Amino acid sequence: MSKLFLTKPISQLRTESESDHGLRKTLSATNLTTLGIGAVIGAGIFVLTGQAAAQYAGPAIVISFLISGMACLFAGLCYAEFASMIPISGSAYTYAYATMGEFVAWIIGWDLILEYLFAASTVAVGWSGYVVSFLKDFGIVIPAQFTAAWGSVLVEIPKVGWNLLTPELTKNLADTGIAVSNLPHQAAILNLPAMFIVATITILLLIGIRESARFNNVMVFIKVFVILLFIGIGVFFVNKANWHPFIPENTGTWGHYGWSGIFRGAAVIFFAYIGFDAVSTAAQEAKNPQKDMPVGILGSLGISTILYILVAIVLTGIVSYTFLNVADPIAVGVNAMGSGLFWLRPIIKIAAIAGLSSVILVMLMGQPRIFFSMSRDGLLPPVFSRIHSRFKTPYVSTLITGFIALILAGILPINILGELVSIGTLLAFAIVCIGVIILRVKRPDLKRTFKTPFVPLVPILGAGICFLQMFSLPWETWLRLIVWMALGFIIYFTYGIKKSKLRNQPKA
Ligand code: ALA
Repeated sequence: MSKLFLTKPISQLRTESESDHGLRKTLSATNLTTLGIGAVIGAGIFVLTGQAAAQYAGPAIVISFLISGMACLFAGLCYAEFASMIPISGSAYTYAYATMGEFVAWIIGWDLILEYLFAASTVAVGWSGYVVSFLKDFGIVIPAQFTAAWGSVLVEIPKVGWNLLTPELTKNLADTGIAVSNLPHQAAILNLPAMFIVATITILLLIGIRESARFNNVMVFIKVFVILLFIGIGVFFVNKANWHPFIPENTGTWGHYGWSGIFRGAAVIFFAYIGFDAVSTAAQEAKNPQKDMPVGILGSLGISTILYILVAIVLTGIVSYTFLNVADPIAVGVNAMGSGLFWLRPIIKIAAIAGLSSVILVMLMGQPRIFFSMSRDGLLPPVFSRIHSRFKTPYVSTLITGFIALILAGILPINILGELVSIGTLLAFAIVCIGVIILRVKRPDLKRTFKTPFVPLVPILGAGICFLQMFSLPWETWLRLIVWMALGFIIYFTYGIKKSKLRNQPKA
């Protein structure tokens, strides 16, 4: 029983990270920061901001961003301490192995699949939406049944085109006197564009981390440039009346405007912050991980937070929040700037497509590296840590990750995927925060090039806000998390427990 909580000595982790593991050490502090921004800025800002403002928080979505950003900052500070102390890939998995033991490490490693692999599929579905709409602007129409999850129903709305049928849409149409049953219907088969992007990025990742980092840099440049352009131009079109009331009055239902709406908005846009910790999965490929990882984690989080808050302020200033419940709220913002700025619309779509591509890239890059660490520890079969002799990439785990992500992206809807990603990530963040406190007590002697300030206050607040946000998610999501974790337990108790290298290590 006590063996379940066997921890991996930090000295052993350090030796492993310094040993020749076959991966190339090429990433600088700037690469790591762009990697972080690459993973963070995506569907959250390009899609969810508008929907959360329209449905829950109004212009006060700016406060939601601050609240959710605060939780991520606390978690980010804890991640940075670990990353400076345990510079080895595997992210929160490795940190847990060193602090809370093998069993908790397995739990978190298994849980991180929800954050990385499932996030790649989620964002691929968002990518598909933007690409379909972009191509349509140029007269290229992808048949509707190949643009959504298997089993979902699409309806053709006059002048708008094919849309996913949701209860809200049915109600909105009924309010305008249109009965859904009178509109053309289609049952979707697969989301082919989403599968296509996952396949393409998987191939890129197989070729090499340097090539992938270069592609990521270009994508990050495009998305950040266009976001700055939107803020810079948009600020001249702000109509202050749109900010009044800043906190719309609660409708009487929890979560619909007012302060409860601000909190629900914060839980929804938490998704926008996910990804900064992906920096930690590339530690073994960083040139100087101990110094550069905290810079990468906190730098990417800081830059993204500032951009998010500015976009939220400008967007809710140029257009009334009530018009933002759409798939492309930033494009709606551009429309509101007048016909003189229509040239900006396709550019916004290109930026969103670039932005979402880099999120998928970093997530699909992070996952195989977590599998790599778990496999080297014996908790997953050795094939997961096989490195390609020429490309020096963990090619088998990259292929497995890509294949599963591709299937999920093809058959599951975005809301199921997105909520699973959020609950999984929140759990991982909470465990990392708790881990910092444990290690401060158990191993005060270890060298920390970066120290989380105000311990234990910051980790307690970080974990506390994460748990609160988890509780605001629907019970179905909890149920899926429980089933997923149960599957993980079965694998651990039938495989990992027997093959663990740490357990089977001869006693010194
Ligand atoms: N934070 C990432 C996004 O917004 C996952 O797409």
